[in-house]
Amino acid sequence: MSRPVVVLGATGSIGSQTIGVAERLGIPIAGLLARRPGEELAAHAMRHPDARVVVTGGTLDEREWLEKTIGRVVGHGSEAVADLAAHPGATVVNGIVGASGLEASLATLDAGNRLALANKESMVAGGALIRRRLEGGGELIPVDSEHSAIHQCLLGEDLANVSRLMLTASGGPFRGWSPDKLATVTPEEALRHPVWDMGRRITIDSATLLNKGLEVIEAHFLFGLGYDRIEVVVHPQSLLHSAVEFVDGSWKGHLGQPDMRIPIQYALTFPGRQPTAVSPFTFAGRTLEFEPVDRATFPGLDLAYGAGRSGGSAPAVLNAADEIAVEAFLQGRIGFTTITSVIAETLAEVPQREIADVADVVAADGEARAVAASLVAGAC
Ligand SMILES: NC(=O)c1ccc[n+]([C@@H]2O[C@H](COP(=O)([O-])OP(=O)(O)OC[C@H]3O[C@@H](n4cnc5c(N)ncnc54)[C@H](OP(=O)(O)O)[C@@H]3O)[C@@H](O)[C@H]2O)c1
Repeated sequence: MSRPVVVLGATGSIGSQTIGVAERLGIPIAGLLARRPGEELAAHAMRHPDARVVVTGGTLDEREWLEKTIGRVVGHGSEAVADLAAHPGATVVNGIVGASGLEASLATLDAGNRLALANKESMVAGGALIRRRLEGGGELIPVDSEHSAIHQCLLGEDLANVSRLMLTASGGPFRGWSPDKLATVTPEEALRHPVWDMGRRITIDSATLLNKGLEVIEAHFLFGLGYDRIEVVVHPQSLLHSAVEFVDGSWKGHLGQPDMRIPIQYALTFPGRQPTAVSPFTFAGRTLEFEPVDRATFPGLDLAYGAGRSGGSAPAVLNAADEIAVEAFLQGRIGFTTITSVIAETLAEVPQREIADVADVVAADGEARAVAASLVAGAC
C-alpha cells in the first residue's frame, strides 16, 4: 500500500502528471498546493475532496472564490505550506518551479516524510542544507529522469566503486546551431522542445543547456560525487536517461520511454514497482546516438560547473539570475544568448557567502535577483 501523496505545484506539468499517476494507482491525494487559486486547482480539489488545499498567491477575492467553489477552507502562506508538507506519513512530490520550492523541501524532510524531488532548484540553491538532512536519515527519491536513472543504477552498489556519473542531455531544440543563429531565437522557437513537454522555465533552460548544468549540481549534492566525476553527453533520442561507470569498467544505464510518468511513479511506489500506462519500449529499430556538448555555443553548462565548484552561495546566485533572465527572455525583453550573459555577469558581481541556513540562501537569492534585474534593464 503506497503512502498518501501531497502534490506541491499541483497545476504544473509535474504536478498534473503526479495526480494522474496517483489516480491510476489508487493512491490517495492528501494535499494540493499551487501559487494561483484558479480553475485548474479547483478541478483537482473537487476530484479529491479529502485533500487539503493551500495556495501561496492570489488575492483575497480569488481565494474566497476558490473556497466557495470547492466548498472547503483554503490554506495560505508559508506556514500552511510547511504544515501540508508535514502531512503524517506522506510522500511529498515537490513540483514547484524555482528556488521558492526549497523551504517546502526542507519542511518535508524535517517532518520525516519522503521527498519526491522534481524541484531541482531546491538542490541547487540549498544543496548543503538538504544534504545535511539526508545524512541525518531523511529520504529523498529524485524525480528528474536523469537522477531517477542514476538512483536506480546505484541500487545495491557501493558508492566507493563508482568512477563516473554520465548525465544525458537531449541537446534541446537548437542542437547544431551556430552562435549567430542562436542570437535570433524567439521565445516561441525556444519553447518547442524536441522530446519533452514541460513547464516554460525548464523548457527554456533545456534550450540554453543551463538545465543540464543545474542537474550536474543536483547530482553532486544527491550522490556526493565531485564535479570532475560528473559528465554530460548529448543523446538526442533521450532513451538512455543516464548511466553510471564503475571502477571495473562496467557501465549501468537506465533506458526507457522519455515519459515523466515513469520516474514520478517510481518515486511514489519505491521500493516496489507497478505497471504503468506508458506504452512499452521496443529495442528493434531504435538508434542511440551520443555526441559531445558544444560548450562554446552553449556556455550555460560551464557556468553551472563553475558555480558548483565555487560552492557556497554561487549555485543559488546562478539559479536566481537564470530565473530573472529566462522570464525577461519570455517577455521579449532580452535575446536568447543574453540569458547566459546575464548569469555570467551576476555571478561575477554578487559576492560569495557561506550557506549555513535558509536565511543565507534567501539573502544570496535576493541579491542575485536585484543584480540580474538591473543587468536585464541595462540590456533592454
Ligand atoms: N516538467 C517536467 O517534465 C520536469 C522534468 C524534470 C524536472 N522538472 C522540474 O520540476 C519542477 C516543476 O516543473 P514544471 O515543468 O512542472 O513547472 P510548471 O509546469 O511551470 O509548474 C510549476 C508549478 O509550481 C507552482 N508554483 C510556482 N511558484 C510557486 C510558489 N511560489 N508556491 C507554490 N507553488 C508555486 C505553479 O503554480 P501556478 O500554476 O499557480 O503558478 C505550478 O503548479 C521544476 O523544478 C523543473 O525543473 C520538471
